[in-house]
Amino acid sequence: EIHQREYLINGEIVSWDGPVTNIYSPVCVATDGGIQRKLLGSVPNTTQKEAMEALDAAVAAYDNGHGKWPSMSLEERIACMQKFVYLMIQQRDIVIKLLMWEIGKTLPDATKEFDRTVDYINDTIDALKDLDRESSRFQQAEGTIAQIRRNPLGVVLSMGPFNYPLNEIFTTLIPALIMGNTILFKLPKHGVLAHYPLLEAFKESFPKGTVNTLYGRGAEIISPIMESGKVNVLAFIGSSKVANGLKKLHPKINRLRAILSLDAKNAAIVTKHANIDVAVNECLLGALSFNGQRCTALKLIFVQKDIAEAFTTKLSAAVAALKPGLPWQEGVKITPLPEENKPAYLKACIDDALSKGAAILNEHGGHNEATFVFPAVVYPVNEQMRLYHEEQFGPIVPVVPFESIQEPIDYQINASHGMQVSIFSENPAEVAQLVDSFVNLVSRVNINCQAQRGPDVFPFTGRKDSAEGTLSVFDALRSFSIRSLVATKVTDSNKK
Ligand code: G3H
Repeated sequence: EIHQREYLINGEIVSWDGPVTNIYSPVCVATDGGIQRKLLGSVPNTTQKEAMEALDAAVAAYDNGHGKWPSMSLEERIACMQKFVYLMIQQRDIVIKLLMWEIGKTLPDATKEFDRTVDYINDTIDALKDLDRESSRFQQAEGTIAQIRRNPLGVVLSMGPFNYPLNEIFTTLIPALIMGNTILFKLPKHGVLAHYPLLEAFKESFPKGTVNTLYGRGAEIISPIMESGKVNVLAFIGSSKVANGLKKLHPKINRLRAILSLDAKNAAIVTKHANIDVAVNECLLGALSFNGQRCTALKLIFVQKDIAEAFTTKLSAAVAALKPGLPWQEGVKITPLPEENKPAYLKACIDDALSKGAAILNEHGGHNEATFVFPAVVYPVNEQMRLYHEEQFGPIVPVVPFESIQEPIDYQINASHGMQVSIFSENPAEVAQLVDSFVNLVSRVNINCQAQRGPDVFPFTGRKDSAEGTLSVFDALRSFSIRSLVATKVTDSNKK
C-alpha cells in the first residue's frame, strides 16, 4: 500500500495531515464483507487553499518570463530535462507496477506506456534543437532585420484522463515545461499513484515552483484556479463537455490557449473487398486493446452486407478467445475496469440495443463479474441505438451492416466528432475514394490497420469536438510557445 500524504509545491514535497482520498484497485480481493476492490493507498484531499498556493507558486516561478526557469538558456533547460529522464527511469519498475494495479493495464501495455513516455521526452529534446534552429534565425526584408525568438506563454494547467495517466499528461506537460512555462498538473483519480514515485525526480530536476501537483476534487479546486485568470494555457485531455465547462470559467477565455484532444467514436469501414482476416485482427486490436478504453479505439464497425456474416462469425470467435485475467498474468487481454460506474453503463447500452433488435454474438459477451465485463460483439446495430452514437469507452464492439459506402460516410458527416477512421478494402480505387471522402472529416485515415495515436511523433488531433490544437513532439513545442520579433532598421553600421 502507498500512503502518499505528500504533494509537490514550490519545490518542496510537503507532508499532509488532513483528510485523504482512498485509492482502490479495479483488482478485487476477498474480504469479510465479500469481494471488494483492493485498497491501494491514499492521497491528500487538498482544498482550494493548497490549490491557490500551488497556482501562486507557479505564477511566482514564471514571474512574467523573468523567473529562474523561463530565463534559463535552452541548453540549461535541456540539461534539467535530461536529469529528470535519468531519475524517472530509476522508477520504471514501480511505476509499471502501479499502472497495472491502479488502472488494470496489462504488463505489456503498462511497460509500453512508460517506455513511450520516456521516448517522447527524448524526442522532444531532439525536436527542440530543430525548433531552435528555425526560431532563432534572422529574417531581413525591406531594410529591416528581425531576430525571431520563441518565448514561453506563462502558467500551464495540465490535466489528463485515467487511461494513460502518465503518457497523456506528459505529452502536454513536457513540451510546455521545456519551452520555459511553469506547470500545475492535476492528477486523474485513477492513475494518481503512478505519479507518486516521480515527485522526487521533479523536485530534484527543476527550479522551485516550476512544477506543482494538484490533488483533490476537480470541481472544488480547478474552478478557483481557472476563475483567477492566471492560467495562460489549459492543456486538457478528456471529454469535450468537461473541457467546455472549464473554458467558460476563465475570464479571458479568448486569450486562453486550449490544447485539447477529446471525444471520439472512431469507425471502421469493412467493405466487401476487404481481406476478412486482416480486418478481424485489426478491428479486434482497435476495439478491445485495454478493454476499449482509448480515445483512439474503434468504437463502431461498419461492415458491408455481402460479407457481414463471414466477418461477424470470425470476429465473435476471436473476441470469445480473448483471455480474461489479472494484468500481470501471461497472455491476458481482458482486465478489470477501474471506473466504478462503467459496468452498469455498459449494461444499459447493451440492454438498449437488445431491446431494439440486436443480439450478442459471442458466448459470455457483456457478462459482468465484479469489475470485469466480458467483451461483447453486438449486431446488428442501427441509428436508433445508443451504441451507434455514444462513446462506450469499454469492451463492446457494435457492428453496423451497410449496403452503400455512402452510409458510413454519412455517419461521419453527421457526427459531432472526427478523430480517426480505419478502412478495410483491397480494392485500390475504392480505398482512394474512401480516403478522399474521409480525409476532410477526420484527422487520420488508417488503411487496413487499426486506429491509434502512435507513433507519438505523428501529429495527434481531430475535427469538431475531437480536438482543439495539435499534439505531436514538434507541434506541441510550437503550441506551448509564441514567437516574438526584435526588429531594427538596417544601417551602414549594423549591416555586417
Ligand atoms: O486515449 C488516447 C491515447 O492517446 C491513445 O493512444 O492509440 O497509442 O493507444 P494509443
